[in-house]
Amino acid sequence: MIALIASLAKDRVIGRDGTIPWSIPEDLHHFRDLTMGSTVIMGRRTYEDIGRPLPGRMNIVVSGKLHLTGENLITVPSLDDALAAVTTPDVFIIGGAALYREALPRADILYLTEIDAEIDGDTHFPEFDPADFRRIIGSHSDEPLPYTFVTYERIPKTQEVTPMRRFIIDTDTASDDAAALMLAALDGKAEILGVTTVVGNVSKYQSAANALATLEVCGCSAPVYMGAEKPLFHERKETISVHGADGMGDCDLIHPTGKPDESMPSYRFILEQVKKYPDEIELVVLGPVTNIAIAMLAEPDTMKHVKRIWSMGTPGLGVGNASPVAEFNVYIDAEAYAVMLNSGVPVTIIGFDLCLGDIQLDLTELDKIAHGNPAGRFLERAVSGLLRFNQTTRNSDMIDLPDAVAMACAVWPDFVVSSVNCHCTVCTEAGETYGQVIFYQKGRTYESMPKFDACAYNVTLITAVKEPVFTERFLDLLTK
Ligand SMILES: NC(=O)c1ccc[n+]([C@@H]2O[C@H](COP(=O)([O-])OP(=O)(O)OC[C@H]3O[C@@H](n4cnc5c(N)ncnc54)[C@H](OP(=O)(O)O)[C@@H]3O)[C@@H](O)[C@H]2O)c1
Repeated sequence: MIALIASLAKDRVIGRDGTIPWSIPEDLHHFRDLTMGSTVIMGRRTYEDIGRPLPGRMNIVVSGKLHLTGENLITVPSLDDALAAVTTPDVFIIGGAALYREALPRADILYLTEIDAEIDGDTHFPEFDPADFRRIIGSHSDEPLPYTFVTYERIPKTQEVTPMRRFIIDTDTASDDAAALMLAALDGKAEILGVTTVVGNVSKYQSAANALATLEVCGCSAPVYMGAEKPLFHERKETISVHGADGMGDCDLIHPTGKPDESMPSYRFILEQVKKYPDEIELVVLGPVTNIAIAMLAEPDTMKHVKRIWSMGTPGLGVGNASPVAEFNVYIDAEAYAVMLNSGVPVTIIGFDLCLGDIQLDLTELDKIAHGNPAGRFLERAVSGLLRFNQTTRNSDMIDLPDAVAMACAVWPDFVVSSVNCHCTVCTEAGETYGQVIFYQKGRTYESMPKFDACAYNVTLITAVKEPVFTERFLDLLTK
């Protein structure tokens, strides 16, 4: 990813007399958090203004005059040479004006600190067409100057025909999984090659029946395969039934006409599809990751050709629901989660923290889907067990849909507001921390481990989503 990062005052002023004519400490922290662990490319005058290589980052200075080298510093004669020398996944162009101008057409993302003040300057950020970018407004402050962190994500050119994405959805189908299946099936932008079920909320058999009934009400004919009956290395732990005994509200809802495909187990189906479509398959994993781990242990080289795993699991940056530190899906099979984290496959984690707050559906919204299309009416009944659980245990008239939020992250790129690359580990030792997931976030310095930034980042953790977008689009799918 090529990013431009700059702070600019009115009239796109970025500098005066070889330096930046303002000082905003929080902006410097923001810059540090974003760029730490990556490569920064800068022009010679910007380097001279900074006065030293930025620590924790590879520094590339573009200059025809300087010939500097150091542990984390090289000098190259052109932007092309600079980009060719980059070895980190992310690279930040950090100024000045000429480099910004030359790099702008190649930038995927602009991180701009927009200062709402007129400040004299002699150096300017280049003009760009705002229609080329999606503008995401971040935090604002008035001290010491009024400023806002704004992200511009480049919008892919619509005339380019993008091939349909290929999903396999792995699920322990209870009512929030059903919501996720509906979102994917009714949205229709990704091809669902198949649904693989696993023990979790309910048995793999109940899960398969629930998935089939859900897909049928959406008019989706994706095949359903059954997978692991128990976690990788132990028996399934006892947990409270949140969604009802059948996972779907215990309201006699589940009468699929179809049957699961019993020609192969879930993990085998996943392997066959990855061989058929190498580097194309995205696994959306809504339950314990046991099936995925079994496939990885059986054929690790094949599984390296999974394009991405979208994992609903972990509390994110919040607290656990299965235990104070563990989220249900990881708690059921932490050993499987460890296999996934160590696999080398790109993993995006959508934590439980993202499904709380206003993104939950309230009684008014549930009433809307109860009067919606057949899928909406089905879902309103399926989540009745979850609603009862929340009413009695949390004194809440709202329902949380972590799997649907995870699916929304997978299918709607513009739904995600922010994410952070992390080194992620999971505790697999028996005891009260079993299933705890630890995120070492890129850009943070941990005082007990000053060299931490050198370590490999194995997951992307989504940290914020657009809550109103979820409610609006999801209700639209269930009512139109
Ligand atoms: N507000 C912000 O976020 C921000 C960020 C960065 C910089 N700034 C400010 O911007 C000003 C510096 O910017 P600037 O535009 O004057 O200078 P600059 O881009 O930092 O440096 C210009 C020099 O870099 C080399 N260079 C740049 N682009 C090149 C290219 N495409 N190919 C080959 N060489 C290239 C050349 O070096 P040689 O002459 O050695 O060949 C050129 O003279 C300062 O005031 C600085 O404080 C502000």
